[in-house]
Amino acid sequence: MKFFLDTANVDEIRRINDLGLCDGVTTNPSLINKEGRDFKEVISEIASFVEGPISAEVTSYDYESMVKEARDLSKWADNIVVKIPMTEDGLRAINILSKEGVRTNCTLIFSLSQALMAMKAGASYVSPFMGRIDDMGEDGARLVYDIRTIIDTYGFDCEIIAASIRSIKNFEDAALAGAHIATVPGNLFEKLWSHVLTDQGIDKFKKDWEAFEGK
Ligand code: G3P
Repeated sequence: MKFFLDTANVDEIRRINDLGLCDGVTTNPSLINKEGRDFKEVISEIASFVEGPISAEVTSYDYESMVKEARDLSKWADNIVVKIPMTEDGLRAINILSKEGVRTNCTLIFSLSQALMAMKAGASYVSPFMGRIDDMGEDGARLVYDIRTIIDTYGFDCEIIAASIRSIKNFEDAALAGAHIATVPGNLFEKLWSHVLTDQGIDKFKKDWEAFEGK
């Protein structure tokens, strides 16, 4: 399973990348807005040190503009994946781009049929939004599991990026459900390696060692 960082914050990405835990990055217009920096400048900076795929999202919604934007975005670096929203125009854009060899990540996936449409149109990645599905009282992990079943049954050349991960449980459920990739916000990442009993254990070892040395 691969781990992506779901952030446009370069410091967060560097920190996790230095631990060997960053296989790629996903961004979206909200995350770019949060950083308040020029879109191309941020993506280029991330691409200067992250080797894996970096998703950059189109900001137009008609297929001709999406294709035009995608062609431009894909030239910013070799590892750019263009994020396209799940709409009829989005599917049309994905179909055109896949034939040109531009990798796409179909985003805002909330149902199995949406994922199936995106894969059939030629998306390289599909992004089910686990947290937002759970918000609706439905089961985000179940959707990831079902998409994985479809991919394995029919041999689609597509990977699942479990997105909208807000909790340790979302992350663990994504892994158990067979997501190829989990994209994790920077502020959640450190919770994934932390545990209160680990901290307590270290405190006790330290105290006992100091007592031993004092003897
Ligand atoms: O990857 C999509 C993600 O950024 C959305 O997360 O928490 O806004 O649903 P959230």
